[in-house]
Amino acid sequence: MPDQLNWVNEAWQQVTQKINRTSKTIGANFPHASENGTYILAEPHWWTAGFWPGLLWLVYQDMKDDALKQLAEECEAKLDAVQNEYYRLDHDMGFMWTLTSVAHYKLLGNEDSKRRALLAANLLMGRFNVNGNFIRAWNPWTEGEDNSGIAIIDCMMNLPLLYWASEETGDPRFKSVAKRHADTVLEHFIRNDGSVHHIVRFDPESGQRIEAIGGQGHGPDSAWSRGTAWAIYGSTLSYHYTGEAKYLEAAKRVAHFFISHLPEDFVPAWDFRLPVNIESPKDSSAGAIAACGILLLADKVNSVESPAYQRAGEMILESLYKNYGDWDGSEEGLILHGTSHFPEGKYTDNPLIYGDYYFVEGLARLKGFKELFW
Ligand code: GLY
Repeated sequence: MPDQLNWVNEAWQQVTQKINRTSKTIGANFPHASENGTYILAEPHWWTAGFWPGLLWLVYQDMKDDALKQLAEECEAKLDAVQNEYYRLDHDMGFMWTLTSVAHYKLLGNEDSKRRALLAANLLMGRFNVNGNFIRAWNPWTEGEDNSGIAIIDCMMNLPLLYWASEETGDPRFKSVAKRHADTVLEHFIRNDGSVHHIVRFDPESGQRIEAIGGQGHGPDSAWSRGTAWAIYGSTLSYHYTGEAKYLEAAKRVAHFFISHLPEDFVPAWDFRLPVNIESPKDSSAGAIAACGILLLADKVNSVESPAYQRAGEMILESLYKNYGDWDGSEEGLILHGTSHFPEGKYTDNPLIYGDYYFVEGLARLKGFKELFW
């Protein structure tokens, strides 16, 4: 490991010690955001359900600690009830079952995990709108709401479940659906400058684009930083599974936007394009997600381009470790200063389980654990 990465071993030790400690208080549950030092638990239906078990698997692959494995398995088993609650399932089945069942299957070959992940992939594929070539994101949040034409940038990270299902079964349908959704994202979400929309609404009958919506970003034309990070990592993963240059080009364009808009400490505010009168707290989770995408991108580009991406990913993670990490307090979260949903005022300066997860995934990659759960 080069000298500039001396911090990585120390960070990994801090992470493994802390996860051993917090696994005893968090248990087989589904933490989302930490408030006053303690993780608030979410229902297993919430999109974040995979991150804690995924984090346990990341640490388990090094430490082989059976207690961590058991917790991850218990979380996965709890999600069986969610698979049976059809009305509450949305497109985030990708996040949820990739980091539980696919991770378990890839690490230990568990056949029950494979069955669960394939079932989730089938349910996810069933949300595909053939008129508009997009995966429908959500069900109605309120009685009578029509979300049938809604697609969101986050879904780029749900596609790996479909790519994996095609590889596993030899059936190309899953991959075809994933590619058609990714193509829609390239056409309608990613702007020429590399910034992205969070939400686009389509006419679910004609498939025509109706409008872009701000969603978790400041507005339809702003640049929500976590959405930008989803686009970097998701486009790189689409390239990883298909080898098609258009996805690599998209990932690079979005990565350039992200990296060139980073402030001095390499960790973005919640939106890159804010009017001066709007508060701009950090979203450390966006930094962690983008770092993972950028490090994978470094493995995909040629040897001339690679070092710049590699260094950018490393610098984001190093700053998260040194300036945002909580290593010796009583706080359960690992990475401070995440913003979940600024427009709704939800968790605007908190550790977030997905910030923790992606920080540890990036760190694991720098340690040499390159098994992709995605
Ligand atoms: N997938 C929702 C979010 O990024 O907050």
